[in-house]
Amino acid sequence: MKIDVFTLFPEWLDWFRGQRHVVNALSLGHEVEGLDLRATTPLKAGRVDDTPYGGGAGMVIRVDVVDAALSARWGADAVEGRGARRVVALAPGGRQFDDALASDLAAEQELVLLCGRYEGFDERVHEQLATDVVSIGPYVLAGGELAAMVVCDAVLRKLPGSLGHGESAVEESFSPALEGAPEYPHYTRPAQWRGAGVPGVLTSGDHGRVREWRAEKSRLRGQRRS
Ligand code: ADE
Repeated sequence: MKIDVFTLFPEWLDWFRGQRHVVNALSLGHEVEGLDLRATTPLKAGRVDDTPYGGGAGMVIRVDVVDAALSARWGADAVEGRGARRVVALAPGGRQFDDALASDLAAEQELVLLCGRYEGFDERVHEQLATDVVSIGPYVLAGGELAAMVVCDAVLRKLPGSLGHGESAVEESFSPALEGAPEYPHYTRPAQWRGAGVPGVLTSGDHGRVREWRAEKSRLRGQRRS
């Protein structure tokens, strides 16, 4: 999978690309690249934003700047080019990111993430250049970069072979294997800690009962959240 992250701060991606699970994914041939929106701006002096029509505080990232960045990357018209790939604009007002969307995006060959700053993008970026507008939660970040890394992280770990040996994304929180519920509780040594023990079923050696206990705990946690 090839992930292009368009941002005003491509160097933010350098830290992310150095993390072990991301290094694993990259060594399998997946790609994560940060692309500087200023590098292709048609405006003078690297300008990318402008004041909002109608007035108000803050600056808005211009649609022609994003258009130029995507067209340069694809060597094709950006509006037509979005038909060939998922283009996700990150914005607090977008569709809430969840495990199902992570799986959906992980099935793509190519993913484009657009990181806003200031007051975000001109609305025409959402309407005509992006295929999806996604939020990682109901709060406002200084920009879309952390949100893009959250999306990258959740998507990359879905790709076969990205997790190390012994790790699995199959039976984890919110997965279909757990019917969308959070994962069951985990315990490890010591068996006793400050008087707090471990549920007996987990040390019983009865794998059938362990499975049932885990399914039940996962289900109960799911109910508590809703
Ligand atoms: N940009 C600013 N806040 C955001 C959020 N909560 N999700 C996605 N992108 C954002």
